[in-house]
Amino acid sequence: MAPVGYNWRIPGPGEEGTMDRLTVFDTTLRDGEQAPGFSLTIDEKLRMARQLDELGVDIIEAGFPIASDADAEAVRAVAKAVRRPVIAGLARCARIDIERAGDALKPAARSRIHTFIATSDLHLERKLRMTREACLDAAIDAVKLARRYTDDVQFSAEDATRSDMEFLCRVVDAVIKAGATTINLPDTVGYSTPDEIGAFFTEIRMRVGRADRVIFSTHCHDDLGLAVANSLTALQAGARQVECTINGIGERAGNASLEEVIMTTRVRRDRLPYETGIRTEALYATSQLLVSLTGEPVQANKAIVGRNAFAHEAGIHQDGILKDRRTYEIMRPEEVGVPQTTLVLGKHSGRHAVARRCEELGSTLSRFEVDRVYRKMIALADRQKHISDAELAAIVEEVRAEEAAPGRAPQAVATAAFLAAEPAHTPGERGYGHGV
Ligand code: KIV
Ligand code: ZN
Repeated sequence: MAPVGYNWRIPGPGEEGTMDRLTVFDTTLRDGEQAPGFSLTIDEKLRMARQLDELGVDIIEAGFPIASDADAEAVRAVAKAVRRPVIAGLARCARIDIERAGDALKPAARSRIHTFIATSDLHLERKLRMTREACLDAAIDAVKLARRYTDDVQFSAEDATRSDMEFLCRVVDAVIKAGATTINLPDTVGYSTPDEIGAFFTEIRMRVGRADRVIFSTHCHDDLGLAVANSLTALQAGARQVECTINGIGERAGNASLEEVIMTTRVRRDRLPYETGIRTEALYATSQLLVSLTGEPVQANKAIVGRNAFAHEAGIHQDGILKDRRTYEIMRPEEVGVPQTTLVLGKHSGRHAVARRCEELGSTLSRFEVDRVYRKMIALADRQKHISDAELAAIVEEVRAEEAAPGRAPQAVATAAFLAAEPAHTPGERGYGHGV
């Protein structure tokens, strides 16, 4: 039978540990912060890092220490203050970068140096002006140097998904031998498709030596809107670390959104049976903190954390939600930390939602009053987007004042007159407002 309920549930006795554990690598403070409009001060990075710790991410990439003194300082400050997660710092495959990262990460309880170099011919020839052999040597040297600072070294092959497979496998093979413990294969420009990235991870894991001794990682950009789909397919093809950001921020169209990846694995655990350490109830607060620190809002229809993710205006939807939330919601808002489902009153709303909102505001309306209030509300909503609680309360008062006015027809007569005035509608249809 097709699933109809909420699929996400806490594992029962005996079910713990039966699923593969994913490492959640959060790069909000590095790839995310790199994007125009998203830069953060040291203090702001610190606040965000504490919230990411609350959220339960495994690794916080706190910055790119060679990029600026302030970024090196931010990495140091996060490493000093945030003790549970591993703190990572980015470094090109260059001595100066690795020394700077190693230094900034010194105060960390657990540190990771994340070193990267592009492996695609396009990047090597046009950007780095480097031969493949020189790239291979730089990668090996960087990993060996990073291992002098920490046992936890991640190597990223930038533009991996557009690299020559033969050469990429040589590089990955060599850096594993040199001591890399995590191999990240980014879809740097968001060019891949889900089927392609699945085959890509499967092939590399089959071809390189000692693949079982390292963790493969996926880092997808969203240029074609496929970052989350690509990340999930990479997991199905054996990656066990997912790199992502809060609200999906990051270079250009952004990175895979942490909240979308995580909630997909929760809601569809029947297809993606992975465990993580994420406390999903902290997702919304984390998203909101990032918005307040960067001043960059989340689009209203953004999955999980957007203003409309749990809001319903259409009459049929509101009616369904009032009867059983599962009709139009696949997860509970409180599971991601959103306070409650919102029934927005607007021109698409129906009588049920109007009556329920009035009740919540302390006014239980008769059937006649619901009709009157509803009609006035729709007339107002035709002129403006939404109806506030204050406006609704004013309408209720107006209707009650009209009812109490001397010379009004008795309620039953007025109701009949009202129904007769709209012969085209059946009583059933009235409940749905304009919306379907
Ligand atoms: O997108 C990318 O390739 C990166 C690397 C530095 C990991 O962000
Ligand atoms: Zn990136």
